Amino acid sequence: MTEIHENNFLFNTWYFIGTSKEIKLGKMKRKVIADQPLVVGRRKNGSIFIMRDICPHRAAPLSEGCIIGNTVECPYHGWRFDVDSGVCKLIPSLTEDQKFNSERISVPTYITKEQDNLIWVYLANDNNFTNKPYIQPYNLPFSTKNAIIDYSCVLECNIDHAVIGLIDPAHGPYVHKQWWWRSPKKIHDKVKHFEPFLFGFTMKPHPPSSNSFAYKLLGGKPLTEIVFQIPGFRTEEIKIGKKTLLSITIVTPISESKTEIRQIFFTDLNIIKILSPLLKIFTRKFIHQDANIIKLQQLGLAYNPKMMLIDDANTQAKWYYAIKKEWNDCIKKGREFQNPVKATTLKWRT
Ligand code: FES
Ligand SMILES: [Fe+2]
Repeated sequence: MTEIHENNFLFNTWYFIGTSKEIKLGKMKRKVIADQPLVVGRRKNGSIFIMRDICPHRAAPLSEGCIIGNTVECPYHGWRFDVDSGVCKLIPSLTEDQKFNSERISVPTYITKEQDNLIWVYLANDNNFTNKPYIQPYNLPFSTKNAIIDYSCVLECNIDHAVIGLIDPAHGPYVHKQWWWRSPKKIHDKVKHFEPFLFGFTMKPHPPSSNSFAYKLLGGKPLTEIVFQIPGFRTEEIKIGKKTLLSITIVTPISESKTEIRQIFFTDLNIIKILSPLLKIFTRKFIHQDANIIKLQQLGLAYNPKMMLIDDANTQAKWYYAIKKEWNDCIKKGREFQNPVKATTLKWRT
């Protein structure tokens, strides 16, 4: 039995902003991650920039302004900030003889990376969240320009409960009870092999659950590999011959009590593309079932009870806490990350 640890955001790591498609040329969007309000924009040359979404003058959101050349213009009094350095380049209200140097003022800018059709931001734990990354965002095994499904929903919980919900195998037959997925009656024993992998762990390729009708629709002999990485990133890669269906689930903390869950599917399988309207309905239903149980869980959490993590079905949750702890530790001590996960076989009934 392990107790749940208190919540804290992980820093010195990459957080998911959105898909490349989402941030259009010359446009900006607001995004709050780990209590940091961010403005994400795409320069006219196509590259992404990220700055703090609070104007240092009177706190208006820069995301509501516009991009002019290499600057962002605040919607309130038109101050302009360089998108690379964050330095204030113009204060329109100043008269010719007022010698105030606008360059003394700046907005924090963030390190960003766009790869595999996804956009990431690096949040460091220095004051302006911008020190040099130790690591790079996880490389996807597969991606396409357009996701066949891209669905997002806000969970009323902190990041830890969201992650544990995501990697918890035991709730499936109870929370996701439907004829096309699993029911408690069809529960059977599962044996899965796990290994440490980068900043998380992987469940080695295995044929997906034979009791799931949804998988049968795929045809062929699919092989699934699941990868989990902190802060809250999970991929499920299903390979059928040379074709791939990649399911990406990302939970991103918005605040201590709100977490975004994002479900994206990339595929080159025509049958899945054809079935995508149906898959969209299933995805929505699935995520809403999770969101609903998490909302109900808050009724208990409000009383700050002790909780349990028991046996193999909760081992991934224990690993999550151990990885998180190791991450904070190795950064504090300035040493290499040592993945606490040991290769092991876990058994449970779902
Ligand atoms: S609040 Fe941004 S320019 Fe005044
Ligand atoms: Fe779930």
